[in-house]
Amino acid sequence: MAPVAPYHVAIVMDGNGRWAKRRLMPRIAGHRQGVESLRRCIRACVQRGVRVLTVFAFSSENWNRPPEEVSGLMELLGKALTREVPELSQSGVRLYFVGDRQGLSERMRQGLAQAEADTAHNERLVLNVCFNYGGRWDIAQAAAGLAARGEPITELALDRAMALAHVPDPDLLIRTGGEQRISNFLLWQCAYSELFFSERLWPDFDEAALDQALAAFAARERRFGQTSEQLVRATG
Ligand code: IPE
Ligand code: IPE
Ligand code: MG
Repeated sequence: MAPVAPYHVAIVMDGNGRWAKRRLMPRIAGHRQGVESLRRCIRACVQRGVRVLTVFAFSSENWNRPPEEVSGLMELLGKALTREVPELSQSGVRLYFVGDRQGLSERMRQGLAQAEADTAHNERLVLNVCFNYGGRWDIAQAAAGLAARGEPITELALDRAMALAHVPDPDLLIRTGGEQRISNFLLWQCAYSELFFSERLWPDFDEAALDQALAAFAARERRFGQTSEQLVRATG
């Protein structure tokens, strides 16, 4: 029997550049292949009963890449919006774009808002695309929002003001590409996420690789600060 899928899976989709380099292709070809891999991953998550998928597509720090790579990534997002949204919507995917929109062009901002509106009725899978996102930005914008409204800064209030307040925290956080770091992804929300690092480059991260991560997750014991004995008592 397949293990119960985690409710919320988050992924740092890393390794596109190296995938392209190994093939003597430009980095943007790796990002293009990365979009294909994401499409496959979304389908697999829907099939496996994952309810929320959150992916890191462009970090606050990725602006520091060569200008042609940055503009290539922006273009890729723009194209993906027009090409993928109808099919995603048909499969029951509800899209959210998570990140600082102020750094994006007006046209891009309109495209993101439109894609969110077009998929707002869907309920099968929530797909959060973190774009121009940084965990530190998220904490700062949440705190600034509370301060502006004169609200006390408590854990609960901050949690509600964070950019992912519409979903529970990730159960499983996967990073592909072999690096073992968070790179300013969901700093607040991954407090108790199970971490899984895959050597696979993101374009090569297929269904079997996802199943490996899900199986590893199913074998973990999540204690949330309690002891193992307490957990056995509560469920046994
Ligand atoms: C991740 O792949 C995608 C983005 C950061 C946009 P990379 O482009 O970081 O790929 P590597 O790490 O250089 O291989
Ligand atoms: C993290 O990957 C960001 C995304 C996957 C969008 P990076 O490739 O930017 O991370 P570092 O620079 O290796 O830490
Ligand atoms: Mg990288």
